[in-house]
Formats: sequence, structure tokens, C-alpha cells
Amino acid sequence: MPTKTHEDQLQSVVDRLSAAAEADYYNPYKRFAWPDRLDVDGYWMSPELMTVHGTSAARELDEKTLQEISKWESGHFYSLNVHGIRELLIEVVRRIHTTGFEIPTKFFHHFVGEENEHMWFFAEFCLRYLGKIYPDRSMSFGTDPGSPLVQNFIVFSRILIFEEIVDYFNSRMGSDDRLHPTIRDLNKIHHEDESRHIAFGRQLVTLAFQKVCDDGTDDEREFCRTYTRRFLDSSIAGLYSPAVYRDAGVTNPTAFRREVMNDPARAAANQAMSRRTTSFFHRIDAMAAA
Ligand SMILES: [Fe+2]
Ligand SMILES: [Fe+2]
Repeated sequence: MPTKTHEDQLQSVVDRLSAAAEADYYNPYKRFAWPDRLDVDGYWMSPELMTVHGTSAARELDEKTLQEISKWESGHFYSLNVHGIRELLIEVVRRIHTTGFEIPTKFFHHFVGEENEHMWFFAEFCLRYLGKIYPDRSMSFGTDPGSPLVQNFIVFSRILIFEEIVDYFNSRMGSDDRLHPTIRDLNKIHHEDESRHIAFGRQLVTLAFQKVCDDGTDDEREFCRTYTRRFLDSSIAGLYSPAVYRDAGVTNPTAFRREVMNDPARAAANQAMSRRTTSFFHRIDAMAAA
């Protein structure tokens, strides 16, 4: 039996995931119950997933303030989704039906359609229940990220890292019985769609890095490895938002953020969020050590 080339492998993944996307297709505009008001009695997100979890700063706060943080932090998390999706849609639309993307294009159609819908339901949640979407503060793509080989690797790596971190939250909140049914449902549905996107993204990233190693320079390969590390670290840091703490009524939110981020309890929590991602990137040797 001849060994399957990377392209053959990508083709069979694209076929399998496209069939799954067709079979699982739903109407997002009818899928969710949107009560006029969200009567949340308790936490808006799983307490263990909050950025303040396990910290000494959190132990100084009363239950009411912690619940208030959970409300604004969940809104911040969905806002990150809205902005992350806009950025990834721009890059995928730029590539669909262009030379070199003949195989993934079939799944790009599902990806673009589903992401547009995800962006809609996350924005809907923020606007209905929090009255706003937090502004985008993420690390920009940059104007000159290198040759097309490097650009492709970076684009698909950014998408994958973003989707895997988000999925860490969605997969847990989607089955957390303590949460309001609308919140649980939003997370559960997103997790189901994202499991296809992540499987697809891992194939694209593996192939894109293979091309950098085969046809790029040593410097380009090192640039890619450093970039993924930097992007992962800045994505995790971006979860800690002073605006969230301010909205929840915390005094001196900037100092509070610093204290929370530097709390020894957070190192293990941050590691847990990114473990699956770092082990994938390390397996293909495409991420520098921490
Ligand atoms: Fe999504
Ligand atoms: Fe996605």
C-alpha cells in the first residue's frame, strides 16, 4: 500500500468533515431561546473558569462581587469570540477558491457559513444581556508577517490557537448544570461545531508548517515557532481584562489585574487552558518552548 501523502490525508479529512457539517446543519436564528431578560441566579460562567479563580485577591471579595465578575467576564469572553471570528473570516475568505487552496475550499464554505452564525449568536448575547461588546485588544496580525508560506502558517495557527482556547471554555460550560440553559446551550452548540473546525485546522497547520520546513529558510521556520508561542501567551493574557473588573465594581482594576495574573495559582490554570494546543504544536515542532 502506498503511503498517503499529506494532500490525500487533507482531502479525506475535508470530505469527512464536510459531510458531518451538512448532516449537523441547523438554523442558528431559530435554534436558541432568547428570553427578554436573563435571570441568572448565581454565576454566568463556571466559577473554576474565571480568571480570578484560586487567587488570594478573589478570596478577599464577597460572593456578590464574584458573581458580578462572572457576568462581565462571560460577556468579555463572547466579545473575544466576535472579534476573533471577524479576523479569521477575513483571512479564510481571502484564500477561498484561490490557487493552492483547491482541497480545503470545500470545507472553507462550511467554515465561513458557520463562523458567520457563531459571530451572530455571540454578538446577540452580548448586546441583549450586557448592552455592549467589549472592544478588540488582541495582538494584531501585523502588516508584514513574511512570505506567503509564513503568512499561511501564521493565519491557520492563529485560528487554531484561538479556537482551541475557546473550546476549553465551551466544552466545560456546555455541560455545566449550574449555568442558565441559554448560556449552556450557546456553549454546547459552539463546541459541537468547533470540534470539526479544530480537526480541520490541525491538518492545515501541519501542512502549512511542512511547507515552511520544505521550501522556507531556517529563519522563517524559527520565526514561525516564536510567533505561535507569542500568540498563545498573548491570547491567554488577553483573557484578563481590566475593563471586566472595572464593570464588576472592583476598585483599582489595573492593579487588581496585575495581582490576579501574578498569583501563583494562575500558572497552573493557564497551563491547563493551553495544554492540548501546546502539545499539538510541540508534536509537529512548530512552537518555541515557554
Ligand atoms: Fe466558531
Ligand atoms: Fe471555528
